Amino acid sequence: IKPKPTVFMIFGGTGDLAERKLIPALYNLFLAEYMPKEFKIVGLGRTAYQDDSFREVLLEGVNKHSRSGKAEKDKWAEFAEHISYLKADVHNEKDYEKMEKIIETCDASWSEPSVIIHYLAVTPQFFPIIAKNLAKMKLANDINRTRIVVEKPFGHDLESAKELNHLLKNIFHESQIYRIDHYLGKETVQNMLAFRFANALFEPIWNRNYIEHVQISVTEDIGVEDRGGYYNTSGALRDMVQNHILQVLCLVAMEPPVNFDAEEIRNRKVDVLRAMRKFGSEEIRHNTVRGQYSEGWVEGEKVVGYREEKDVDPDSNTETFAALKFFIDNWRWQNVPFYVRTGKRIHQKSSIISIQFKDVPHLIFPSKSTESWQQNRLIISIQPEMSIRLQVQAKRPGLDMILNPVDMVFNYDGTYSTDTPEAYETLLLDAMKGDQTLFMRGDQVETAWELLMPVLESWESKKSISFPNYSADSWGPETAEALIAKDGFHWFTLP
Ligand code: BG6
Repeated sequence: IKPKPTVFMIFGGTGDLAERKLIPALYNLFLAEYMPKEFKIVGLGRTAYQDDSFREVLLEGVNKHSRSGKAEKDKWAEFAEHISYLKADVHNEKDYEKMEKIIETCDASWSEPSVIIHYLAVTPQFFPIIAKNLAKMKLANDINRTRIVVEKPFGHDLESAKELNHLLKNIFHESQIYRIDHYLGKETVQNMLAFRFANALFEPIWNRNYIEHVQISVTEDIGVEDRGGYYNTSGALRDMVQNHILQVLCLVAMEPPVNFDAEEIRNRKVDVLRAMRKFGSEEIRHNTVRGQYSEGWVEGEKVVGYREEKDVDPDSNTETFAALKFFIDNWRWQNVPFYVRTGKRIHQKSSIISIQFKDVPHLIFPSKSTESWQQNRLIISIQPEMSIRLQVQAKRPGLDMILNPVDMVFNYDGTYSTDTPEAYETLLLDAMKGDQTLFMRGDQVETAWELLMPVLESWESKKSISFPNYSADSWGPETAEALIAKDGFHWFTLP
């Protein structure tokens, strides 16, 4: 189903996100004919652009960042007709009147009243003033037509997240608020739902009786790049664990939903967060590890340590790596550890979920046959490889009975010839259609903050004397290895 006529108001229209992600995503939706016939994209910013010069900038962004490569001249021209620019100051009410005029003009010539999406691609300090002015200028009051998309970070801690929720909920109904977590739009992450709930095979073994432990590892080879200023007030726990990793964990651990409704799925996810074991000081000591990278060599080039990065405090205590062991206190997952880790400047860029099953109850093979024995594992690789592999034991061909692990692989590349949409394409289309399934609900965000607050507070109150404690291009601090090794496991990586 095509979405209804839509007006996109992009606050921060001249920013990085619009140029790299939002416009390329909308352009690809247009190419794939998912955009409605009637749509308008309005970029709002403080720079003095004309429509044409703004479109030029966006075209450059599309040429550089679109998955479909350089824009085709005719197609781009057709798409660009829908784009305009409004020089606007978020504090100035008059500029909101101009927005209203644009919407009125669209409504007057379009076949039906438009859906209006206010996309906040600006730093969080502007969220309150924009939301308040939208309300004051009556640009937010139609519950069926108006939506607001809020980028992360959603709060800096539990208190600020609650404040932001409170502010938004005073103006918008929850059904109008789209809190974006781009991991939920990733193809492989969405497939978690299909894989678990469209196959009868896995559900009976998806519990503490068969699963020994779960790992979620999201490692990046890049450093903080030019985002040192933001990152230094954030750190790995806030930047990756509070949102992306916990959202993925919920999809792995949730109970089967009754149907595919947004509310039902989000209820089941929040159940997981509520059941997660709280961190006391003992758990923080034994089940959490933080790290910060020092200088090192990446592909023959010297890279600086975190404390030497631009806009980073030279004594910074901010973690660029976090590893945690979680437990979920419910019937399904009692005493099954969920290990998560994430870090910057790690040897390999890779996001994987690894589910290790318990060993066979009784081994009938002689020890000579089982030297490379490996318990069954299910590995969902989110990126860069997009695959699902099931590791099982098989007999190696030959006259001897020698067993070794082999992979049964579903690889997206080999299976489908179509290009995979970018996360933002999926999410923007859902926002246009009014489907909130892949967006975070207010209570999910708060519950995730609540879980991590004791860890954040403890880390902030105690300066880490060992920082930096891992070198660029390594696998993170040794203590992260120890965290999992003391339970007899090791972090799984794809070759
Ligand atoms: C963002 C974080 O949310 O996700 C970044 O702020 C991180 O620090 C990025 O690099 C990772 O996203 P992806 O899609 O590249 O895995």
